[in-house]
Amino acid sequence: MDGRAAPHAGGALRLRGPRRDTPVDAHRLDRARALSTIVEPADTPSEGRPIRWGILGTAGIARAAVAPAIHASRHGTLLAVASRSAQSSERFAADLGIERTYGSYDALLTDPDVEAVYIPLPNALHAPWTIRAAEAGKHVLCEKPLALSAAECRVMQSAAELHGVRLVEAFMYRYHPRTVRAIEHVRSGSLGPLRTIRSTFSFVVRRADDIRLDAALGGGALMDVGCYCVNVTLAMAGRSPRTVQAVSIRHPGGVDRSLAATLAFDDDLVAQFTCSLDAARTESFEVIGRDGRLEASQAFLPGAATTRALWTAGDGTTTPFEFAGVDQYALMIDHVADVVRRGEAPRTGAEDAARTLQVIEALHASARDGGRPVTLQRARVTSGSVGSATIHEGGA
Ligand SMILES: NC(=O)c1ccc[n+]([C@@H]2O[C@H](COP(=O)([O-])OP(=O)(O)OC[C@H]3O[C@@H](n4cnc5c(N)ncnc54)[C@H](OP(=O)(O)O)[C@@H]3O)[C@@H](O)[C@H]2O)c1
Repeated sequence: MDGRAAPHAGGALRLRGPRRDTPVDAHRLDRARALSTIVEPADTPSEGRPIRWGILGTAGIARAAVAPAIHASRHGTLLAVASRSAQSSERFAADLGIERTYGSYDALLTDPDVEAVYIPLPNALHAPWTIRAAEAGKHVLCEKPLALSAAECRVMQSAAELHGVRLVEAFMYRYHPRTVRAIEHVRSGSLGPLRTIRSTFSFVVRRADDIRLDAALGGGALMDVGCYCVNVTLAMAGRSPRTVQAVSIRHPGGVDRSLAATLAFDDDLVAQFTCSLDAARTESFEVIGRDGRLEASQAFLPGAATTRALWTAGDGTTTPFEFAGVDQYALMIDHVADVVRRGEAPRTGAEDAARTLQVIEALHASARDGGRPVTLQRARVTSGSVGSATIHEGGA
């Protein structure tokens, strides 16, 4: 089967029984750390053999960032790549130094030496191929956004649990030490009670056949770059909003080309973000509390250079915090090794993804309805499941 005829595409996602039983160790809690002036890349402590990776699809992001990151990681080796076209996988493998190639995704999934797969397929194919990979007993690192809906995230997580494999969403910016420390800093209360979170992510899509402009493949500005804004907002706030509103500018292909959103929380916190596939490259966040402000530019794709976050205290004094350059993709690959080998809880797991997608679904509903407020139903987080995907539409 290839990516055009995806398993279960367009229909209900079904789970098959487990083929093997891999116990998962108890999850470890992350230790809280304070924001410090210079932060060196973390040395992940994974143990045992490196994870043997396969990639489904010769995607641009796999070529540009994730395949090189697996090579650069401490605890991963890149064994195989699959494409809908044998030629394409051979070219990709030759360019990136990969031993085994396959002319279909299913063929790679039958390779017993591949332990984990990275899935950089169009968004609409994330859920079906994650489930297929879990059924084949492979751990999965799947691109963002993890699925088209919170409900799909739940099914994907259930499939992973059923088959004894781990599932991680490839939100690579969450592995950059600056992001980690910024979230800890905000959540520790250093800014006082939060009042405003602003973020933006935009760039110009130039190819008419780009998957981002295809509604059937799960494209659109909110799904592609707005998902970072939603994710960082929820990570900083530590909770979901009560009511959201969005207005969008449509692309003739049916996706949102640009979108502006407002998220109102139960207390005095309001968040806003803009995202676009048709505006100059911009990516930043700013978190404002009653007692201070934290801001960062190049917030999601900082590259390998030294990065900064600016902390402005209540008295107006600004302190720049510097972070050594890292490959955030390689740190993510090493985190997956910790999740698989050491039983750590995924930093960006299906539960986190479901919270983000619940907000995205509500924003889509609001944008479709000219910006009408949409109220989110309270997320129910229970053992073995993720937050409720139900959206209750209506006024605040
Ligand atoms: N984390 C990040 O930094 C980052 C950055 C960019 C994108 N992404 C995410 O990564 C995913 C892929 O994005 P991309 O920009 O790399 O996309 P892309 O270059 O268009 O690659 C998508 C790949 O999916 C496969 N595919 C299967 N069915 C397809 C179909 N019907 N149409 C088109 N391609 C199909 C193709 O591989 P074969 O032809 O080899 O089968 C194709 O190379 C998306 O989920 C996106 O959100 C993440």
